[in-house]
Amino acid sequence: MIRLGTGPEDLARAAALLKAGRLVAFPTETVYGLGADASNHEAVAAIFRAKGRPADHPVIVHLPSAAAMAEWARDIPDAAWTLAGAFWPGPLTLVLRCAAHVDRIITGGQDTVGLRVPGNRVAQALLAGCGRALAAPSANRFGHVSPTTADHVIGEFGDEVAAVVDGGPCEVGVESTIVDLSGSTPLVLRPGMISVEAIGERLGVVPQIAAAREGARASGRLASHYAPASRLSLLPADGLTAQVARWRNQGLRIVVLGISAPGGDPNDIQLPARPEDYARALYASLRQADARVPDRIVAEMPPDEPSWAAVRDRLQRAASSAD
Ligand code: TXA
Ligand code: MG
Repeated sequence: MIRLGTGPEDLARAAALLKAGRLVAFPTETVYGLGADASNHEAVAAIFRAKGRPADHPVIVHLPSAAAMAEWARDIPDAAWTLAGAFWPGPLTLVLRCAAHVDRIITGGQDTVGLRVPGNRVAQALLAGCGRALAAPSANRFGHVSPTTADHVIGEFGDEVAAVVDGGPCEVGVESTIVDLSGSTPLVLRPGMISVEAIGERLGVVPQIAAAREGARASGRLASHYAPASRLSLLPADGLTAQVARWRNQGLRIVVLGISAPGGDPNDIQLPARPEDYARALYASLRQADARVPDRIVAEMPPDEPSWAAVRDRLQRAASSAD
């Protein structure tokens, strides 16, 4: 895999690779995506091979603008245009009924498609440069933590990925909010930094939240996402110090992901107290903790508040895969 910069020549090279059917990882505002020309079946198949991803797991199609939604979806409800107008470009994915021509490899065999217009400048330049929609899941091997830097991507893949465009660390840090508008009521499939409340406000109806969706469909799925290699436990702030002390007394090597309280142990990693800042740092911190090969990572549970919903969701998924 080659590392490309974000100057015009490197972006032109990345666009040419994509047009030739190769895989190119690129930054979005949420996490790095593993991109392929969404209209090239072989290229999209290569994403599944590189990730080790099951075929029934759909990939998001990234578009240059909301207008392109009509090329990929049919029966687009007003709610989709409303949310697109409010939040695109940005960290929101809309699940809509897919247009007839859409390759079922993208939809995981379903008749819906996930669409997103990313706000990241490099992602936008790449979409414009190659003139194609880009299928792009997070650029990690299946079940691993999503990458928020080009180095993370390079650590995940070899030469099955032609290049990574290094646009620096991702601004948002956790994956997009996914809203399914293909049914009779809006359904949030994955919380993100665009909150359920903000979406409800724009739509004038409170969306449903599909908390147990993946768990219900296949119990192994939920567990296999966003997971560090080390076992991760989530503990409330008050009992945490005492529990960690007990484990350490038993000789266990623990890395604590705390929230901005000065940690006593040099192994502890302090994360910021604002949810936006925490989200930006989360995946790099999980990787940093994992790299120390501890017996256990212990994360302090953030408050049960709307602004923390996406972070709590990712921590819970990471923790449930370990237990
Ligand atoms: O922020 C993001 O969304 C990042 C960046 C790269 O855009 N992408 C991302 O892709 O997180 P991925 O493939 O790692 O996660 C996409 C999620 C999966 O859980 C998939 O099941 C869901 O989106 N998804 C995609 N299309 C869908 C569809 N038609 N119906 C239901 N879920 C869908
Ligand atoms: Mg992913």
